[in-house]
Amino acid sequence: MKNRNTSTTLHYCFNLYPKYYEALAAAVRYFKPLHALEIGLWVGRSAYALLNNSPNSTLISIDPVSHEESTEFLEKTFPGRFTYRQGYSPDALYTLRGKTFDWVYIDGEHTEKAVTADLLGVVPLLDNDGVIVLDDYNITEVREAVDMFMKEHAEKKLYSFNDLGFSDSGCPSQIVAIVGKERAFEL
Ligand SMILES: C[S@@+](CC[C@H](N)C(=O)[O-])C[C@H]1O[C@@H](n2cnc3c(N)ncnc32)[C@H](O)[C@@H]1O
Repeated sequence: MKNRNTSTTLHYCFNLYPKYYEALAAAVRYFKPLHALEIGLWVGRSAYALLNNSPNSTLISIDPVSHEESTEFLEKTFPGRFTYRQGYSPDALYTLRGKTFDWVYIDGEHTEKAVTADLLGVVPLLDNDGVIVLDDYNITEVREAVDMFMKEHAEKKLYSFNDLGFSDSGCPSQIVAIVGKERAFEL
């Protein structure tokens, strides 16, 4: 699948959700990831937030649709640091076995089943002190998948970006971070 019609959307979305970008940018500057993975590229807002705020990082972004304008823009803007991998998670995650990531951003399909599969699929790829960040926790199905995952992963903690203060302008309440004990925060 190809999509070359993102430019209007890209411009629209970057301007429509500046708080989303700022919140992600602040979190990236805090966690300083070096090896990042993303599920769901679309217009590349989250990819741009990652690459633009962690100068030494690389990012692999999985999406079944080759959003060509996003991909071309990110490859050109961040040479050698951005890799688009066409495919559906969680299957596409198997192709990454052997690699580890310290930042995983999940923003693909937003059903409970898909989010659960993504969470379980990224755990084996996560560094010990790596962070999983998810968008759309305000969507019931996403929240239920995350909350169930947390019940079964007592070694991890869940924080909302609001609580962590990853925005100076009231970041969207839907972004959450799942961190290991080593990264736990005193709030
Ligand atoms: C909400 S958009 C992602 C937005 C992107 N993170 C951004 O900030 O610009 C969701 C994307 O997930 C992709 N997607 C849907 N199901 C997927 C799956 N199973 N694996 C990977 N990507 C998927 C869609 O094609 C779409 O591009």
